[in-house]
Amino acid sequence: MTHTDTGTTTAGGTAGTGGTGTTGPAADLRAAVDALESARRSTLALTDFDDAELTAQHSPLMSPLVWDLAHVGQQEEQWLLQVADPDRDPVFHPAIACLYDAFEHPRATRTQLPLLDARASRRALADVRARVLDALAASTPERSAFTAAMVAQHEHQHDETMLATHGLRAGAPLLTPAPTPPGRPVPAGSVLVPAGPFLLGADPADEPWALDNETPRHEVHVPAFRIGRVPVTNAEWAGFVAAGGYDDPRLWTGTGWAHRVAAGLRAPLSWEPDGAGWFTHRRFGVVRAVDPAEPVQHVDFHEAQAYARWAGARLPTEVEWEKACAWDPATGRRRRWPWGQAPATAERANLGGTALGPAQVGAYPAGASAYGAEQMIGDVWEWTTSRFEPWPGFSPMLYDTYSAPFFGGDYRVLRGGAWATAPAAVRPSFRNWDHPVRRQVFTGVRLAWDA
Ligand SMILES: [Fe+2]
Repeated sequence: MTHTDTGTTTAGGTAGTGGTGTTGPAADLRAAVDALESARRSTLALTDFDDAELTAQHSPLMSPLVWDLAHVGQQEEQWLLQVADPDRDPVFHPAIACLYDAFEHPRATRTQLPLLDARASRRALADVRARVLDALAASTPERSAFTAAMVAQHEHQHDETMLATHGLRAGAPLLTPAPTPPGRPVPAGSVLVPAGPFLLGADPADEPWALDNETPRHEVHVPAFRIGRVPVTNAEWAGFVAAGGYDDPRLWTGTGWAHRVAAGLRAPLSWEPDGAGWFTHRRFGVVRAVDPAEPVQHVDFHEAQAYARWAGARLPTEVEWEKACAWDPATGRRRRWPWGQAPATAERANLGGTALGPAQVGAYPAGASAYGAEQMIGDVWEWTTSRFEPWPGFSPMLYDTYSAPFFGGDYRVLRGGAWATAPAAVRPSFRNWDHPVRRQVFTGVRLAWDA
């Protein structure tokens, strides 16, 4: 499992139960099997296209889809079959398996590898999955549930990555969006999160699917702050463009301005002036007017910082973000989701990858956090100012290269998942990270202020 190639990553899929909470290892394992199956439906749907589509390098930032397709099966075999029985006859023989090592092969080079074709990849995936289901049925849930959940989350993450690849692809549409609820006018710009202690991070006792970098749970004191009730919208971002935000180096950090100039940034990814004072953008093969009421999407960290300075605000830290998302000051306890313990549904959050874009702000009043912040889970990943570092007492999970190689690097943490993220692959404690210049993933912005 390698986060390098889910690269910031995370996930997409459809239903998904997302951990289970309180019901024990057998139920955790059943939920993990459900998530494996849900992820596979998404994987196959996202790769149900001609070989030419699957082998093309749609962007140097992304793998050919056929690489992701086989990689999820290779990783599944490694973690759910090979670890337990290294002497078995593998589906992915070593000479093939090594082609799917994300650390060995940068994304831009993967079309040059002698990869399995789509038909052989699908066959290998099905073969591995059949053996995995047999192995899990015969396993001890206490031992296998977490690994199965980790593998399911990994496949969901690659489904999100494949959605990002589809998003960068030229040509006629291949995917059709599902509807989201309409937005509504949202009161005030921000909500107050008073000062006080808060339990940060995940405790595997109640978040059995938490990955290593989310743990251990520990108390932190967070000074009072305000945070945006909803993410920054396209209408607000257009105001920044119109005000010359992309032309004013005073709004940008030195590094950010250098990148803005070098990359020629003028607006979010794929925005084009429509000649009448507004913008169009291209979304999964369809050129359409930018929806003023949707959260802005496809902006990088430097753009997010510049926007925040222009707006008289700042970006939240990831600790602030998590407190605003998950803490319930009335009970002094964490909620499993912003809205409470109930599962993520289509009325509470835009997750699962079918919408092909964020919902308008105000679309999920039932998804509000205890402090009144909305759309913290789903819609767009939200940039934070935080660099990716371990929580105190961190220890690696089943293998040591999921998180540790990335600590201390040039990454910023993103929170909350996007419309493309599977419910099973995100939680309030989930930490995504990416380079500050990346914007092909489904990134957006929520502002914060000192209180
Ligand atoms: Fe991976």
